[in-house]
Amino acid sequence: MITIHSIAELRAQLNKARLQGKRIGFVPTMGNLHEGHLQLIDQARACSDVIVSSIFVNPLQFGAGEDLDSYPRTLADDQEKLASRGCDFLFAPTDAEVYPHGREAQTQVEVPTISDLYCGASRPGHFRGVATVVCKLFGMVQPDVAIFGEKDFQQLMVIRRMTEDLSLPVEIQGAPIARNEDGLALSSRNGYLSPEELKIATTLNRTLLIAKDALLNGSKDFSGIEEQAETTLEESGFKRDYYKICRRSDLQPATDSDKELVIVTAAYMGSTRLIDNIQINL
Ligand code: PAJ
Repeated sequence: MITIHSIAELRAQLNKARLQGKRIGFVPTMGNLHEGHLQLIDQARACSDVIVSSIFVNPLQFGAGEDLDSYPRTLADDQEKLASRGCDFLFAPTDAEVYPHGREAQTQVEVPTISDLYCGASRPGHFRGVATVVCKLFGMVQPDVAIFGEKDFQQLMVIRRMTEDLSLPVEIQGAPIARNEDGLALSSRNGYLSPEELKIATTLNRTLLIAKDALLNGSKDFSGIEEQAETTLEESGFKRDYYKICRRSDLQPATDSDKELVIVTAAYMGSTRLIDNIQINL
């Protein structure tokens, strides 16, 4: 695997591959890689000839008081993991390479409506930062296909919408959520949790499975299910952020006639914010 830090070198390397007619698959990340990220690499390998991953802790998507400075940076370890999974190129640019005119002067990409819900409501500007950096990374890598995890369900929807709205010639693929043996969705932020908190954190997924059961058994009491889940989370030691049964097509609150649902949730364990979701077909 070749690690590249500059856009010029990235373009030079990938132009060669493109001229040979190779299909380029792209997996953007913020590093501190775990099995969930590596499964995206596997999926990219299955649908492309050359795999590019990026590691960039994007300051634009972190709000004031969030964990930008403490976000784990583990490049050497990440390089080893990516190489062992058959990644061809790692693009790891500096802030100055990505935002040469500074963050304040950066042109930004705003995906309306969907960016304002749930995670967007809790983290104002977050999805603008995500859409902006992903759009830029698409311009740098010019991939044929890009893979994103369903773990960040709303993010995946924002990126799909941006790609469609800006007519970007990139196929967007979602990948299933990778979980640990207790059902906790793998996340770089799990590393902030103590062993005790890690055990409690599995409640998040458990509430989703219980809610899924209720919905599959015919319940339409969406707000009752949501309240019950939030109570369970609070009793187990979480602080609530949101827990919402949604229509999958646009993440609006589900109605009785909707068949394709997703429950999206975020909750705080101490100062660590965890997210999870589950898809349900009625
Ligand atoms: P990051 O949190 O590093 O995640 C990189 C990719 O890995 C995302 O597509 C995310 O959905 C996926 N992922 C993380 N945990 C996963 C899990 N348990 N199962 C499946 N996929 C998982 O998401 C970002 O970085 C950034 O916002 C980024 C898109 C790179 C833009 O900066």
